[in-house]
Amino acid sequence: MKVIANWKMHGFKDDYLHWYKNLSKTADENLFDDLGIAPPFTLLDECKIHQSKIKLGAQNISHLPEGPVTGEISAAMIKNSGADFVILGHSERRELHTETEEAIKSKILEASNHNIHPVLCIGEPKEIYVAKKTEDFLYSQLQGSLNDLNNINLSIAYEPIWAIGTGDVAKPSDINKIHSIIKEICSREFDVKLENIIYGGSVNDQNSKEIFEQEHVNGALIGGASLDGHSFGRIANNFFEIHNG
Ligand code: 13P
Repeated sequence: MKVIANWKMHGFKDDYLHWYKNLSKTADENLFDDLGIAPPFTLLDECKIHQSKIKLGAQNISHLPEGPVTGEISAAMIKNSGADFVILGHSERRELHTETEEAIKSKILEASNHNIHPVLCIGEPKEIYVAKKTEDFLYSQLQGSLNDLNNINLSIAYEPIWAIGTGDVAKPSDINKIHSIIKEICSREFDVKLENIIYGGSVNDQNSKEIFEQEHVNGALIGGASLDGHSFGRIANNFFEIHNG
């Protein structure tokens, strides 16, 4: 999946069908294979029951396989609910739940062992961006969560923290450059197969076309603008126009 809706902590049972109907009115259902949705855990079953074209994902998993870990959800459990992928290491989890690189690495392994595609999020805070130290920062995030892993298939979402939910989208040419650097680091340093590299941070139907046009951008991870089915559909159409048109 290349264009992914991250609903974060939004959505109730009835919302999904309504969202899907609006999405189908706006975008061509035949192209939905490239789309993904990561709803809250509580809606995974609901999404699975009502359609199978859009890939289904969770927003997190435990770094442990099972056991007495109150409040956690395992890779096997999301697989059982029909998940195809999982978003890992999102900056909101790193910040609010002090998620470490070690824990993220274990989660990547857990996901991979259960045949769930990991979408690893990395991205720099504003002060690093301003100090022009983004490359070093991303390198150390990648080192921390990919070092020592073997033969892992994954996607990476580059999400500069300062761009998330701020309306302050990164410049398309900068995104392209960072993506090519991330690709280069991954192929040089780690035993991973990077399936897609996607951008996240204030993507909407107005700015997505120019982002999708960049050579090293394979898709997008979208928060706020993905909550409305029409809006997500318009972003998907911008993607389809460039990649299927
Ligand atoms: P926004 O699209 O709301 O900026 O969120 C981006 C994001 O965090 C997706 O994971």
